[in-house]
Amino acid sequence: MLEIDEISKTIGTKTVLDRITLSISSGASLAIVGESGSGKSTLARIVMALERPTSGVIRFNGIAAPHKKTSDFKDWYRQIQFVFQNTTASLDPRMTIAQSLEEPLTGFTGMGKNERKERIAEYAEKVGLPPHLLAERPGRLSGGQYQRACIAKALVVKPKLLICDEIVSNLDLLHQHQIIELLHTLKIEQQLSLLFITHDLSLLAGLCEEIAVLKEGQLVERFASSAIHASGHHPYTQSLLNAARSLGRRASE
Ligand SMILES: Nc1ncnc2c1ncn2[C@@H]1O[C@H](COP(=O)(O)OP(=O)(O)O)[C@@H](O)[C@H]1O
Ligand SMILES: [Mg+2]
Repeated sequence: MLEIDEISKTIGTKTVLDRITLSISSGASLAIVGESGSGKSTLARIVMALERPTSGVIRFNGIAAPHKKTSDFKDWYRQIQFVFQNTTASLDPRMTIAQSLEEPLTGFTGMGKNERKERIAEYAEKVGLPPHLLAERPGRLSGGQYQRACIAKALVVKPKLLICDEIVSNLDLLHQHQIIELLHTLKIEQQLSLLFITHDLSLLAGLCEEIAVLKEGQLVERFASSAIHASGHHPYTQSLLNAARSLGRRASE
């Protein structure tokens, strides 16, 4: 379904991504892990067609990512949506949550007013956002509610792929688990594929079938998540795993 084909990105003299090749098949999910600065968000923006790679191609169901803001962009964004880590900048503070959720529906679909209203209520419920919050502005929401609203806004257009870039990193452990649980449910119910980006391997349990490890713009390793505890990982992967374990231990103490 999604093909990341030999993607490189150079910014100035720095190679931010070096010939990255990855794929996600329909209904499957992929996690991308790596320390801060490894190029994860740059790759996410390239997949979203928000940024151009220096070389390489992104294809979705065989169609290459659009270059310019042509009508192809609408098709792209109907199929691929994203939630980014920068929590407070994702929703317009002047708009109510309902207005924010309506924006992609007006932009990318030909839905009528009543249909839009129904879809918004449907997705608020799906992500566990109490209906009364739809009339509020984002400033009134807690961190967890805000992230649920962002997920709802991404999903109202029923995309096939959802890119999540560090979306739980700013939440406490309880809310992290709730959001991961929600993604798990949505993944199954909506047959949604995830590209789940995180620096923290401990967050992945059960969510993605495959894990790709990025280090300084290079793909270090790719493995089935069932093999996460197997021996023989790349030393860099092993150091991320060890960090995740000690984090997990601290959390359960
Ligand atoms: N617009 C930019 N200008 C200069 N450097 C950038 C820009 N965007 C990203 N980088 C650099 O690219 C590298 C990867 O960044 P990023 O994709 O944000 O990594 P990650 O999401 O894994 O933390 C970093 O070294 C960052 O400094
Ligand atoms: Mg990032």
